[in-house]
Amino acid sequence: MKKLCLILSLVLVGLQRNALAADVEKGKTLYAQRCAMCHGDSGEGNGPLAATMPEGQKPRNLAAGANKYASDDAKLTELLQKGGAAVGLSVLMPSQADLKAADLADLVAFVNSLRKKQ
Ligand code: HEC
Repeated sequence: MKKLCLILSLVLVGLQRNALAADVEKGKTLYAQRCAMCHGDSGEGNGPLAATMPEGQKPRNLAAGANKYASDDAKLTELLQKGGAAVGLSVLMPSQADLKAADLADLVAFVNSLRKKQ
């Protein structure tokens, strides 16, 4: 009986871990739907809409990771929640206020994975 309890609690801890960990694959899907048109499929700032934006307000190259404001996960999350204008960046960087905290965490994880490739 003791053994069974131990196994059960290990399984539960494992499940909980999974639920809490950010899901990069989900982040990738959200990125493709919401970000790639400006930042490009691999984050290089060359999505189809980038050409329509004025010099100095082009989508950032996320693979290079040279962020003006979003220097860590908390600030990146804030940028995504509030949009560029609220943190002193361009209004062309839209807010993702409709997303849940878990979705934002998935997006942040995917954006970080783009950065590490460099
Ligand atoms: C309509 C085009 C557009 C879309 C869609 C868009 N962005 Fe941006 N993004 C921009 C622009 C333009 C900037 C540059 C803002 C500036 O330089 O002031 C930017 C900047 C950024 C930055 C850099 C912030 C910094 O501190 O310098 C990050 C990170 C970012 N975007 C992530 C995302 C993510 C993730 C998504 C999808 C949820 C997204 N963007 C969707 C246009 C867009």
